[in-house]
Amino acid sequence: MRRLPPRQYERISDNMMMNTAKNTGKDTVKTTENTIETKTENTIETATETSTEMNTETTAETITEKNTVKTADEKTEKTTSKVENDFRILADELENNDKIKKMKEFIQHGKINTYDHCKSVARTSYKIAKGLHLSVNEKELVKGAFLHDYFLYDWHHHDGHWHGLTHPETAKQNAERDFELTEKEKNIIESHMWPLTPLALPKSKEAVLVCIADKFCSLKETLFHR
Ligand SMILES: [Fe+2]
Ligand SMILES: [Fe+2]
Repeated sequence: MRRLPPRQYERISDNMMMNTAKNTGKDTVKTTENTIETKTENTIETATETSTEMNTETTAETITEKNTVKTADEKTEKTTSKVENDFRILADELENNDKIKKMKEFIQHGKINTYDHCKSVARTSYKIAKGLHLSVNEKELVKGAFLHDYFLYDWHHHDGHWHGLTHPETAKQNAERDFELTEKEKNIIESHMWPLTPLALPKSKEAVLVCIADKFCSLKETLFHR
């Protein structure tokens, strides 16, 4: 075997080392690139998974919230319809009484006749009692409220003065003549204009409720049913 001169031998040796270094460098770059690619892919995958999870959670939360609101609404609707149904059962006999129907002939406030006004006051009184969970005699409350303005004339064309002060007594006398009344029902009728009639004090929860409901309904009818 021929021996190379030392210089040539050194050059070949340098070239070999340089090639090895180059190849090693390329391999390192390649490995680094692969590592970065893999890491980036993993990060993107993890981010996508997290985002999907968050979206799923948000959707689930929104659905739960909607369902909760729906259930609350349904509950309120059910309660409202139950109160309304109970009121209709209590008011049915009074509503269809021919003597009480006579109140349809007289205007009370705006376009509302006395019959509709009394029915509104009865319904409002009953709903306030139910809404506040008050223990009241429902039958007396509704009957007293339905008869509270049973004065049977059109007060706009009434000759007598002081209708505001005198009609509770007139209504009570008419109601006593045409119906059987309890003491509580009589007081509901005679005290509904209090404090305009200072001596006729509401003596029961039922009378206070009708007194309040009458003022509320009268204001509503005067303002919105002209
Ligand atoms: Fe009245
Ligand atoms: Fe009234």
